[in-house]
Amino acid sequence: ASHLNKSHPLEGQKILVTAGPTYEAIDPVRFIGNHSSGKMGFAIADELARLGAEVILVAGPSTQVSHEPQVQRVDITSAQDMLEACLHYFETAKACVMNAAVADYTPTTVASQKIKKQTDSFNIELKKTTDVLKTLGERKRPEQILVGFALETQHEEQYAMEKLRKKNLDFIVLNSLNDKGAGFKTNTNKITIIDAQLQKTTFALKSKAEAAADICQKLVELITS
Ligand code: CTP
Ligand code: CA
Repeated sequence: ASHLNKSHPLEGQKILVTAGPTYEAIDPVRFIGNHSSGKMGFAIADELARLGAEVILVAGPSTQVSHEPQVQRVDITSAQDMLEACLHYFETAKACVMNAAVADYTPTTVASQKIKKQTDSFNIELKKTTDVLKTLGERKRPEQILVGFALETQHEEQYAMEKLRKKNLDFIVLNSLNDKGAGFKTNTNKITIIDAQLQKTTFALKSKAEAAADICQKLVELITS
């Protein structure tokens, strides 16, 4: 079968990858965002394409570019946009790797005009966004594979395992902030993969491209086993 092709083990597989931050509008000129660069998600998308997959890359605002012809980029802005795009593309995908740093909260209302400065203090009311990954986990069919990420500052592995269960994932990638050089905007990452059997694999600090290759290798194992 074509999926046994050694250099292109993901030939013919459609895989959804998300990357970057989301921006939540406050008014026509302002938003709430985060420091996600999109580097890791783009590295994963490129690696999956090199492994033969047809990649749909749903990306929040990011300066990253993919040079792989098998990566189809879909640009979105907000958490709600991310939800709608993911619901659409997950339907026909074999797997989803949810790397985006989706906002947890969004302004309750978006001002139609630029907000003028007035009082000394000013509050913006926020409401929870829909958890995209959890929603996909609820819709996941038995043959589909769902991969999430976790970023924690304490009780890392315990919290990551809770997310793995709560979101119905096949594995979760824990991004460690413990080591110098790991995390947002850097070119390196230190990751631990925890799978549904709670088997844990810790990797050394490496470039995001190399960490992406480790993550994609795990995905290849699950898809071709
Ligand atoms: N995620 C998502 N939709 C959201 C929030 C998070 O799909 N609205 C996904 C992220 O893309 C990531 C995983 O959920 O793959 C974990 O994100 P993280 O921020 O670590 O966890 P949360 O569940 O949001 O919990 P908390 O921020 O409170 O730790
Ligand atoms: Ca979060």
